[in-house]
Amino acid sequence: MSIIAPSILSADFAKLAEDIKDAERGGADWIHVDVMDGHFVPNLSFGPLVVGAARPHTKLPFDVHLMIEQPEKYIAEFVEAGADRITVHAEACVHLHRVVHLIREHGLPAGVALNPATPLSAVQHVLDDIDMVLIMTVNPGFGGQQFIPQALPKLRELRQLLTAHGREEVLIEVDGGINADTAPLVREAGADVLVAGNAVFGVADRAAAIAALRPGGKR
Ligand code: DX5
Ligand code: ZN
Repeated sequence: MSIIAPSILSADFAKLAEDIKDAERGGADWIHVDVMDGHFVPNLSFGPLVVGAARPHTKLPFDVHLMIEQPEKYIAEFVEAGADRITVHAEACVHLHRVVHLIREHGLPAGVALNPATPLSAVQHVLDDIDMVLIMTVNPGFGGQQFIPQALPKLRELRQLLTAHGREEVLIEVDGGINADTAPLVREAGADVLVAGNAVFGVADRAAAIAALRPGGKR
């Protein structure tokens, strides 16, 4: 599977609706929504109000990535605002199993994200309870950072773990430093969903940028 999810963190917030529509016209599959609290990551972005404001402007699913502490406090608000799937960080959840079930109780697919230094064992015991694993390919907090290549063996290992566990249908998402050069590498290593901020919203031609991330896309 190959899903491209442009991250609006790199969009122009003053014309967010236009940028989202441009990505949709350009062939994006999902819109990736990076929520930061200034505690879990050293940056602030936006919350449910912005998600709700953007919601009427696209039919694409909102893939909400919560880089916040105590995410359980905000799940209902993001669902209400129009999130279609929610991913929380394993490092931010004291009771991870409870949080992923809370997301699913709202009827949404649940994802668990792992920072570059967090081992796969952090997600091993919730594989039956989740729909996606997000392998961070940069340290979260900012767009435009460089891809960390140590993520590649981690992706291969996760793919094997899912197969061994009989959970092949769990999606593997990657986020950070994804561009036309790194896209083939992560896809070969097992990634299904590619998040890209700078590579899509940092250029004028979003359709060409998205096409370049697809299999055989690099010209
Ligand atoms: C990292 C965010 C990413 C980021 C990706 O903190 O979760 O979604 O915006 O941006 P690029 O593709 O520019 O590395
Ligand atoms: Zn993200």
